[in-house]
Amino acid sequence: MGIYVHVPFCSVRCGYCDFNTYTATELGGGGSLVRYADQAIAEIGIAARQLQGRQVETVFLGGGTPTLLPADDLARILASIDEQIGLAADAEVTTEANPDSLSAAYLNQLRDAGFNRISIGMQSAVPHVLRILERTHDPEKVPLAVQWARAAGFEQLSLDLIYGTAGESVDDWRFTLEAALACEPDHVSAYSLIVEQGTRLARQVKQGLVAAPDDDDLADKYLIADQAFEQAGLSWYEISNWARDRDSQCQHNLLYWHSDDWWGVGPGAHSHLAGVRWWNVKHPSTFAQSLEAGEQPIAGQETLDRDMQAMEAVMLGIRLREGLDASRLDRDKLAQVIDDGLVQRLPGGQGWVALTERGRLLGDAVARSLL
Ligand SMILES: C[S@@+](CC[C@H](N)C(=O)[O-])C[C@H]1O[C@@H](n2cnc3c(N)ncnc32)[C@H](O)[C@@H]1O
Ligand code: SF4
Repeated sequence: MGIYVHVPFCSVRCGYCDFNTYTATELGGGGSLVRYADQAIAEIGIAARQLQGRQVETVFLGGGTPTLLPADDLARILASIDEQIGLAADAEVTTEANPDSLSAAYLNQLRDAGFNRISIGMQSAVPHVLRILERTHDPEKVPLAVQWARAAGFEQLSLDLIYGTAGESVDDWRFTLEAALACEPDHVSAYSLIVEQGTRLARQVKQGLVAAPDDDDLADKYLIADQAFEQAGLSWYEISNWARDRDSQCQHNLLYWHSDDWWGVGPGAHSHLAGVRWWNVKHPSTFAQSLEAGEQPIAGQETLDRDMQAMEAVMLGIRLREGLDASRLDRDKLAQVIDDGLVQRLPGGQGWVALTERGRLLGDAVARSLL
């Protein structure tokens, strides 16, 4: 099983982002960076009592910007997972990081504390694209942070990229890909820009100030990225994720895609244990109040029946290169997507099917037609 720790703070909010994260102004005095590690540790204590006998194979600190907290806080959170629940000797321990918030000393501290994987939010190497995305980091900072992470001894390094931003030409995207690959990452996540409702980007698009991403441009850029990554020795294993080899695949995310068990610590975090899913209260101050009262900070929960579990397995599994067992799928619907050239039977796959390249461009639609 895995543990996800959500760190709901960012120094500024990027215009496209609708994650459950808060800047100092948005917090308005509720919730606190300073006390956050202790609150997370309190929820880890609750988890430990319910997870007796389970060993944690993956830990993922995400956000928000986990690296806004002092390295010592991240170290304490990880140590508490090990002490209170129990961490496998070869556990994958990742933190997401915003390039702005990294230094060599900080990365050394994280590595010494047991973090062995880092996922850096690069997004783009092109200044005018970063500006539209409202990213504050200097693109030069990314290779520097990568150099520091390697020197600190991080075995696994991943970069997050976004494509399809207004004003990003195909050449800009190629430039970003080259810059990313020059960092020799073990793993890359490349996401098409999503205009999420309620974001500043959504308002700008609505007012005609910024162009919405264009489907054909997104498809072209996906194929260009896939080709560049494959040439550099990174193979796709999930629609938006490429890795150097099996060991470099993100074991924590695979656990989500396989509908395995995980506990999500932090405001708004979701958990899944043996077919029961629950989610925490969303705001950092409500989260803090719950824990201070000695309560588990749950906002709601549901039990997934067999049909829901089967549906989720299809929606998540079809995104993976390893694909799905065809016997889980409706025969006629499968025949249709195979006819349409979106899904193929895997050679030697003993009845398993997976997306074709064209299918990867239409992954969500394929998942819907299979349900
Ligand atoms: C929690 S953030 C990563 C860590 C850190 N906060 C940062 O941004 O550098 C996770 C990733 O989600 C992606 N992301 C967030 N909002 C997105 C959107 N609207 N469209 C596409 N990708 C998005 C970005 O690539 C981002 O790096
Ligand atoms: S993309 Fe990352 S840094 Fe930007 S607001 Fe979202 S979580 Fe924060």
